Amino acid sequence: MAVRVVVGTQWGDEGKGKYIDILAKDSDIVVRFSGGSNAGHTIVHNNICHKLHLVPSGILHPGKICIIGNGVVVDPEILIEEIKNLKRNGVNAENLLISDRAHIVMPYHKALDELQEKFRGTKSLGTTKRGIGPAYSDKAERSGIRICDLLKHDIFEKKVRDNLAVKNMIIEKVYGGKGFNAEEMIAQYRSYADTLKKYVTDVNAYLFRAIEQNKNILFEGAQATFLDLDFGTYPYVTSSNPIAGGVCTGAGIGPTYIDEVYGVLKAYTSRVGSGPFPTEQKNETGDMIRELGHEYGTTTGRPRRCGWLDMVMIRYSAMINGLTALAINHVDTIGKLERIKLCKTYEIGGKEVSRIPADIEELALCKPVYEEFEGWGDISHIRQYKDLPDNAKVYLSRIQELAGVEIKMIGVGSSREQTITVR
Ligand code: GDP
Ligand code: IMO
Ligand code: MG
Repeated sequence: MAVRVVVGTQWGDEGKGKYIDILAKDSDIVVRFSGGSNAGHTIVHNNICHKLHLVPSGILHPGKICIIGNGVVVDPEILIEEIKNLKRNGVNAENLLISDRAHIVMPYHKALDELQEKFRGTKSLGTTKRGIGPAYSDKAERSGIRICDLLKHDIFEKKVRDNLAVKNMIIEKVYGGKGFNAEEMIAQYRSYADTLKKYVTDVNAYLFRAIEQNKNILFEGAQATFLDLDFGTYPYVTSSNPIAGGVCTGAGIGPTYIDEVYGVLKAYTSRVGSGPFPTEQKNETGDMIRELGHEYGTTTGRPRRCGWLDMVMIRYSAMINGLTALAINHVDTIGKLERIKLCKTYEIGGKEVSRIPADIEELALCKPVYEEFEGWGDISHIRQYKDLPDNAKVYLSRIQELAGVEIKMIGVGSSREQTITVR
């Protein structure tokens, strides 16, 4: 049996979906444990580009069980649409299981996400407006509605009415927005319940049995370490714990069951939304990386901010997640530049710093100290490590050395096949 976890080491969109799809081949079960439809995981297979937000990225392998764990906030409307889309692309999602303990995203969460962002004005967080923050707030505040409630009409109806009494007041009186009609919402969610009920189960009991039966389980991280509510660049973070530790609370797995933790990174850095980004290139280099890497958000279509790879961040991620391996993507993209910079440490007020400060004002003052490398041209056709150009090998071995973690997989393109496994 192997229990493996895949997490993002930067600000998301590192290409986690692609590696989940690859690792799912020798897994029995693939589990999402945090986040919601704010995630956008791209998998390119047989020339079809699948964009998944809630369904685990193992779904493209027939027969694999795909689980949405209790730590996920589920937007039923988006989930049902996604299942339909998969079907249209010839993918059967009947092996999907949804935890009865997962919280659901309600229309008032999405409205509040939008209104709160508007209210923040120039200080907006740049959220995906998918209702994620408000849904996790309600979970912590104990007014959240769970999947198990959705399936019990009378309980669901009462919870919606109780919540709307307060939410409508906040939406209308505080933000000047338009409140919701309880009857319409109840009817709409009743139809969602009818569609989704066949997928709902006690996922934790299912996973306990799977562990006892020595199944191979793969946990799919969404978001990333620097978007983590506790360890990211707070408040410019998401509202969950996407780090490896999130598996324990988001799927009900004890830490001693985890065997391997893969940290996915890009050979550069990207970020969507606001917040500090020490190696950001707000110049032609950043524009070039964005165009070469097609860096536009999977969920919102926003152009991603781009910059050099920051090894202070990766070392921090290695520690926070207990990484046992690195999986690096877009080595093809960055190699197309003539000169490449890699941030080794930071400098503040003449002092060298190699840690991530809690205070984001301080992080914004950190000046990257760079090492320089030469590019290596097109490598998208290469499938074996030994065939990589020397310049690429030099860059990769320096990353490995600075991270203190071995690189096990190298991405040279977006498809499953464009991956080099390092033996
Ligand atoms: P995720 O959220 O971590 O799953 O990543 P996204 O799917 O949001 O963004 C990653 C993007 O990079 C997608 O468009 C992928 O198709 C693409 N991609 C992944 N790996 C590689 C790679 O090695 N090279 C190139 N050129 N593109 C890649
Ligand atoms: P994947 O799984 C990149 C960012 C948003 C915003 C912040 C808070 O595809 O890597 P939220 O809607 O979560 O309240 O927004 O977090 N964000 C992501 N950025 N990839 C993601 O997921 C993200 N999920 C959230 O852009 O800055
Ligand atoms: Mg993404």
